[in-house]
Amino acid sequence: MKKLGVAVIGTGFWGKNHARIYQELESTELIAVCDANAERAKSVANQFSAKAYTSSTRMLKNTEIEAVSVCTWSTMLAKEALKALKAGKHVLVEKPMATNTRQAEKLLETADKNGLHLTVGFLMRFIPGLQQIREAVASKKIGELVCATAKRVSQWPERIGDVGVVKDTAIHDIDIMRYISGEEPCSVYAKAGSMRHRKFEDYAQIMLTFEDGKSAFIESNWLTPYKTRTLTVTGSDAIMRLDYITQELWVESAEKNLQPRYPFQEPLKLELQHFADCITKKEKPVITGADGLRALKIAEAALQSSAKNRAVKLKP
Ligand SMILES: NC(=O)c1ccc[n+]([C@@H]2O[C@H](COP(=O)([O-])OP(=O)(O)OC[C@H]3O[C@@H](n4cnc5c(N)ncnc54)[C@H](O)[C@@H]3O)[C@@H](O)[C@H]2O)c1
Repeated sequence: MKKLGVAVIGTGFWGKNHARIYQELESTELIAVCDANAERAKSVANQFSAKAYTSSTRMLKNTEIEAVSVCTWSTMLAKEALKALKAGKHVLVEKPMATNTRQAEKLLETADKNGLHLTVGFLMRFIPGLQQIREAVASKKIGELVCATAKRVSQWPERIGDVGVVKDTAIHDIDIMRYISGEEPCSVYAKAGSMRHRKFEDYAQIMLTFEDGKSAFIESNWLTPYKTRTLTVTGSDAIMRLDYITQELWVESAEKNLQPRYPFQEPLKLELQHFADCITKKEKPVITGADGLRALKIAEAALQSSAKNRAVKLKP
């Protein structure tokens, strides 16, 4: 079977992982990589036997490339994703997809107009334990969903990004809350601020509420001396807890505590395999451009809520 020709734009810490996995997957062939930093582009290209480019405009002319991962700095994601879509390539754009919703909407329109796949790097959705939680909520195995609490905290990142902790980090949990509840939150209240970052917020507490009274609480910061990435979901009959780092899942009720085991899987590998499969089989990806846009809208509303010190209603 012919392999899907792929490329990566932005080969820093994360893009390098995309390149490695595309080279490892049986169904994809890494044709090229592009980075504004020529040395980085060359080094990753050499490591994974691909062509190196410093200009994505030139790289996108290569007709062997059918799909592209965009892993640049967050402020460059939308620009590079738009170029790739305009060049007729399917796109996986890393989160937060864009720095504002106007840019994200343009990506959706362009993908739609050109009949291309557009998906967003909400990697957590590929962790088996999270899929179990979603399934348990949908089938009411833990009773009625009451609330969910996410904690995504760590020390000051080595590479400080070009967006704050809400669009960089909490956006994962915003997407997760929509994913596990299967519903859209109707309002957001947040408190965010900056202790060390000059330009952006480096801590945020976000509360999402849903029509029927359930709620979600997200704590994220770059001020905690250790890294924690957890989710606790409270149902009327049981709770489920997930550690995203170890992928361990616990189910606890008044009668018993269970720890179902799943083999550890690299979520990025599952994500990129899914992206490639969707293109080949012409199927809709589990995460659409609309999911990215929705998460970004909620992130913007959270920042607005914090600035105005009041809850912000979310449009359906
Ligand atoms: N889904 C996840 O779990 C996850 C994890 C880590 C990072 N990310 C996302 O991946 C993106 C990259 O993060 P990182 O940690 O690798 O950053 P990084 O700074 O290590 O790498 C970014 C690279 O992009 C290059 N670059 C910037 N603009 C460019 C352009 N216009 N054309 C070509 N190259 C360009 C830079 O030279 C750099 O090498 C960010 O948007 C981040 O949010 C997602």
